[in-house]
Amino acid sequence: MRRRGYLAGAVGLLSLTGLPYLAYLGAYALKRPHGSPATKRPAEPTVSVVLPTYNEQRIVESKLEEIVALEYPLEKVEVVVVDSSDDRTPELVEAFFRDLQAPTLTLICEDERRGLAPALNEAYAAASGEMVVKTDCDSRIDGNALREAAANLADPAVGAVTGRNAEVLGGSGVERGYRDVQALVQTLESHLDSTLIFHGPFCAFEREAIVPIDEDSIADDSELALKIRKGGKRAVFDPAIEYKEAAHSGFAKRRKQKDRRAMGLVRLLWRQRDMLGGYGAYGRAVLPFNWWFMVVSPWLVVSLCGLLLVGGLLAGLLPGLVVLAGGLLTVLLGSRDALGPLQPLYAVFDTQVSLFRAGLRLLGGEGDGTWEVDLELREVYDD
Ligand code: GDD
Ligand code: MN
Repeated sequence: MRRRGYLAGAVGLLSLTGLPYLAYLGAYALKRPHGSPATKRPAEPTVSVVLPTYNEQRIVESKLEEIVALEYPLEKVEVVVVDSSDDRTPELVEAFFRDLQAPTLTLICEDERRGLAPALNEAYAAASGEMVVKTDCDSRIDGNALREAAANLADPAVGAVTGRNAEVLGGSGVERGYRDVQALVQTLESHLDSTLIFHGPFCAFEREAIVPIDEDSIADDSELALKIRKGGKRAVFDPAIEYKEAAHSGFAKRRKQKDRRAMGLVRLLWRQRDMLGGYGAYGRAVLPFNWWFMVVSPWLVVSLCGLLLVGGLLAGLLPGLVVLAGGLLTVLLGSRDALGPLQPLYAVFDTQVSLFRAGLRLLGGEGDGTWEVDLELREVYDD
């Protein structure tokens, strides 16, 4: 009897967890969104490319090479590097621009590292371009990214645009699976109104729409996009803007970066909870969905795992061990990209694990705005 109760509980919990996802799927089927929702037209605004750096001496020159190779009139481009390093990064940056006519360089050197958010606030305040693009040093962007972004911002209703992870450097299938699902979700959100998540490798903002971000922010890009939506302009995802970024597949290695990013997003949702219900479909559909995905459903997923295990153990030692072994095997295979067609599902599970841990850590008072830079992830950018 008890066993049935557990089974019914597990099925009920699974259905409850999945309900909002089904609703989103339904909305997707109805809307069939495609590409950016902006009315794109060719535009050539002046651009500030903001590049934050913390001890990037190993890869900063290759990043600058990429920026000066972008397909855009370089006399319209300014590069704003905001640096908090204690290595040779700032010297390398200065040397790189020494004999260059265009783009011009604005180099902001911080006396001490205070975190990415304060550094970006400074850089945004110094930026003079009509369009401000932020890109992480450890990322690669497509040659026409500036043009595509400018075309989106030419729509007066749009104040911010982010791009799509087109290639996971290092080849992580877990990350690929997650990014593909995420791209579908973000396309739908953008067509409904605006999307929540903005990606560090590429974000473009209308300079006039930029407002300061919280100094302890660990989700600077998404926070700025959300605040721009708060200010009345849309923040959209355009899959035509492509970037590449490195990621791990291994379960433990993924936790470090992913848990932090998850913490940033969960805290952002919490701090901006007054936006729920307002701001058109953004507050009525997009934010509630993200609340479900990031705040509520991770606890349900973990409870579900617990329920399955306890249910199995109650049925006997053997069924209990089978459930446990099944779970461990899934994680083992999943983090080696060996789950075949189930890989995207595992990727979503992996994200839920991070979001659960993020919730716990935030409740425990964590959430510092500085972190250790992952050197291993930077190996693929070496030229
Ligand atoms: N100036 C400055 N000061 N730059 C920093 C600092 C800092 O204290 N910390 C990190 N950076 C720079 C790095 O040099 C890199 O160019 C970029 O910020 C991203 O840092 P990563 O260490 O690579 O972090 P990530 O890949 O996990 O970053 C992602 O998550 C962050 C939020 O947790 C990105 O999407 C970031 O944009 C995002 O803020
Ligand atoms: Mn990074």
